Amino acid sequence: MKAWIMILAMMTSQFFAMNSFADTSQQDEVTYSLQEITTIRSFGPWPIEPQAEPSNRFSQQAQAIELGRQLFFDRRLSREGELSCADCHQPTQAFQDGIALNKGLNPLHRNTSSLLNLAHRPWYGWGGEHDSLWSQSIRPMLSASEMHTDLARLKSQLQQDKYFQCAFEQTTGQTIDSLDQEAWLVSVGKLLASYQETIRSGSSPFDHFREQLLASSANDKPIVPAQSALSIQQQQGLKIFIGEGRCQLCHSGPQFSSGEFGDIGVRFFTAEGVDKGRYQGIQSLKDDPFSLLGQYNDDETKNNSLRTSHLQLLHRNWGEFKIPSLRNVAQTAPYMHNGSLNNLAQVIDFYSELDEERLHADGEKILRPLHLSATKKQALEAFLTSLTGPVMAATDNSAIFQHCQIHSP
Ligand code: HEC
Ligand code: HEC
Repeated sequence: MKAWIMILAMMTSQFFAMNSFADTSQQDEVTYSLQEITTIRSFGPWPIEPQAEPSNRFSQQAQAIELGRQLFFDRRLSREGELSCADCHQPTQAFQDGIALNKGLNPLHRNTSSLLNLAHRPWYGWGGEHDSLWSQSIRPMLSASEMHTDLARLKSQLQQDKYFQCAFEQTTGQTIDSLDQEAWLVSVGKLLASYQETIRSGSSPFDHFREQLLASSANDKPIVPAQSALSIQQQQGLKIFIGEGRCQLCHSGPQFSSGEFGDIGVRFFTAEGVDKGRYQGIQSLKDDPFSLLGQYNDDETKNNSLRTSHLQLLHRNWGEFKIPSLRNVAQTAPYMHNGSLNNLAQVIDFYSELDEERLHADGEKILRPLHLSATKKQALEAFLTSLTGPVMAATDNSAIFQHCQIHSP
C-alpha cells in the first residue's frame, strides 16, 4: 500500500516536472535567496502587542479607551454639531472616508488618513505636523477646515452634561471645572488617542506566508504551493516589491513604512497654493505648544522628545510627504496626500512611468521609472492586496460607567 502511494507520488511529481518544463511561464514554485528571506523577515512580526504610550498617562486604560471612543463618535466636538471624527474616519472604511478630498466645514486639501495602527509612530499628519497621537487628535478641533470647534462652548457644554462630567472624573481623577481650557483640551486629545490606539489590523495573508517561509527555510522544506498563504502571482509581486521595485527602501519594517518622509513627485499644488509637506510640518511642530517638548508630555524622562528637539529644517523637506504604511492599503483608496490616484493600478502605473523631472528633493536618488510589464504590474498589485488583515477596534464598553448612567437624561 505504502509503496503504491510512493510510486503515485513519484509519477505526479514527474508529471509536474514535465509540465513545468513544457511551460516555463506557469511557475508552480517561487524560490527565495537568503537576502530576500532576511528582508521578508523584517516585515514582521505582526500584529504588534499593544504597549502603553509614555507621553499619554491614560494610554491602555479601559476607562480612557471607552470615554475616548464615545468622544470619537460625538458630534458636539464640531462647531455646530455637524461632524464627529467618525464622519471622516469611518469604522467601516478602515477609518478613512474613501473620498479624494473631503469637505469638513471648509474644503480640505489633503486626503483623509486611515487611523489603522497609529500607536507609537514617530510623526503624525502627511507633513508630520505632530509628534504624538494625542496632539494630532486636538488638531481637527482647532482647524477651521475640519471641525472648527468653539472650545469655550464645548467645554461648558460638556461641563453641564452630568454623565460626561462623571465619566471624565472617574477616568482622569480631575473635574472639568478644575482645568483651564488648554489642560482640558489636552485631556480630550489624550482620551481620543487612547481609543485610537486600539484601532489596528490583524494578521494578513502576507503575515501567514512570512511565518511559513521562515519555518520552511529553518527546516529546509519548501512550502507546498497548495498550502501557501500567498498565490504564485502574489509571491512574484513580493519579489518585485523587494527586488527591482525597491519599494522596501521606504516602505520598510512591520508597518511597511519607515515612518519618515519622502518625495516621489506627487503634485503639491493645491487650490490655494502650494502644500509644502514636511517643510511646513517641521515649522508648525517647532511652534506647537502641544509637542513632546512642551509641558503636557507625561513621560518624565522626556526621552521621547529627543527626536523632535533634534529636528532640523532642511531644503530637501520641501514637498516631502509621509511614507504611508501599506498595511490594509487595498481598503484605503484613493491614494497619496492629495488623493490624486484612484486605485492601486494607478499607483503602480505612477511608479512605473515615474516622471524624474518632478522629483525635487536633493537627497539620494532612490526612485527611477520601473517600466514594468503588464504581468509584473498585476503581480505587484496582487501582492499589495495580500497585506489586508481584519480591522479591529475597541467596541462599546459603556457599562464601565454604569454608575454615571443615573445622571443621564
Ligand atoms: C472633515 C474630515 C475630518 C474630521 C472631522 C477629522 N479628521 Fe482626522 N484627518 C482628516 C484629514 C484630511 C487628515 C490628514 C490631515 C493632514 O495630514 O494634514 C486627517 C488625519 C488624522 C490623523 C493623522 C493620521 C496619520 O496617519 O498621521 C489622526 C490621528 C486623525 N486625523 C484623528 C482625528 C480625530 C481624533 C478626529 C476628531 C477629533 C478627526 N481626525 C476628525 C480628516 C478629518
Ligand atoms: C523614495 C521612497 C519611496 C519608495 C522607494 C516607494 N515609495 Fe510608495 N510612497 C512614498 C511616499 C512619500 C508616498 C506618499 C507620497 C504623497 O502622498 O505625496 C508613497 C505612497 C505610496 C502609496 C499610496 C498609499 C496611500 O495610503 O496613499 C502606495 C500604494 C505606495 N506608495 C506603494 C509603493 C510601491 C509599490 C513601491 C515600489 C514600486 C513604492 N511605493 C516605492 C515613498 C516611497
